Amino acid sequence: MSIEEMKELAPKKEVMFWNVHEICQMEGFWFLAHLMESMVAFRSDFQPRSEDVLITSFPKTGTTWLMALCHNILHRHDNREEDDILTRMNLHEVVPTLDVFFLTDQVQNLLLNSGGGRLLHTHLPYTCLPESVRNSGCKIVHVTRNPKDTLVSMWHFFNKVLKRDPTATGPFPMEGAVESFCTGVLPWGPFHENVVSYWEESKKRPDEVLFLKYEDMCRDPKKEVRKLASFLGKPFPPTSVNGGVDEEVEKVLWRSSLGRLRELEVNKNNVVSELTQISNSSYFRKGTVGDWKNYLTPQMAERVDQLTQLKLQGTGLSL
Ligand code: A3P
Repeated sequence: MSIEEMKELAPKKEVMFWNVHEICQMEGFWFLAHLMESMVAFRSDFQPRSEDVLITSFPKTGTTWLMALCHNILHRHDNREEDDILTRMNLHEVVPTLDVFFLTDQVQNLLLNSGGGRLLHTHLPYTCLPESVRNSGCKIVHVTRNPKDTLVSMWHFFNKVLKRDPTATGPFPMEGAVESFCTGVLPWGPFHENVVSYWEESKKRPDEVLFLKYEDMCRDPKKEVRKLASFLGKPFPPTSVNGGVDEEVEKVLWRSSLGRLRELEVNKNNVVSELTQISNSSYFRKGTVGDWKNYLTPQMAERVDQLTQLKLQGTGLSL
């Protein structure tokens, strides 16, 4: 299908919450029209390597944290602070989102010039990944999050980064955000179908597809980071080897922490990323589990919960 044909499928009426951005549907999912060209190129031209690690996520589910954890696990023996590229570059430049930035010179250079396995990211659902990736044997790590917290995090993020109608005042109405989330008409949506596509694949191929939850990572970060490191083929030594001290694990967690990353000069004061054109600071907010309670009415929460229950029925996944 051509990009023009895909755009033809765009909703005819303005979609609340996204009314300044045209979005269109492909293979059951919605995508920002202005990113279609890059996504189509990624799907047809990307050449994966079996050593690549592909992080996958629906937006606002903990992508940046997972990028940091994977990067810091893979580079945990670079000990000098000045060797840490994260002090100079935002994570979204270090780990590019391929469906969004595939056609940029920066990403093309990175793909061509990095030796060995590369750490990459996409928001595409599993079913929309390039065929080449699905057959490459590269490792896929997916992170997801409670749907209500995802929705609220998205609302904050898009209030910061999306262009608005110049006559509009105040934030986007939350009602519109909930409507958009629940109808699934939002970029990379519907949320539940996107997440379930990875959940199902992780059950079929647990050695190649790891499925993580933001809440588990908050509750027991050491356990989750050990699991992640083993999956990536870089296991941490057992605790007993260090005399009970998880020094290496703690260092990775600290290097990847919201508190540390937010305070790095490169991520402070609205520095705009050359690649994303989004201020680096907008990726870091509170990182609190259950923050939705401060923003959603009981009716809104009930609507999202009912939808989640319906969509996850029979999958064995709970969110
Ligand atoms: P909140 O908006 O709830 O604070 P993504 O990285 O997928 O865009 O997700 C963004 C969410 O992850 C935001 O949640 C953000 O604050 C949180 N986040 C970003 N970096 C993090 C980190 N290093 N550790 C934990 N949470 C992080």
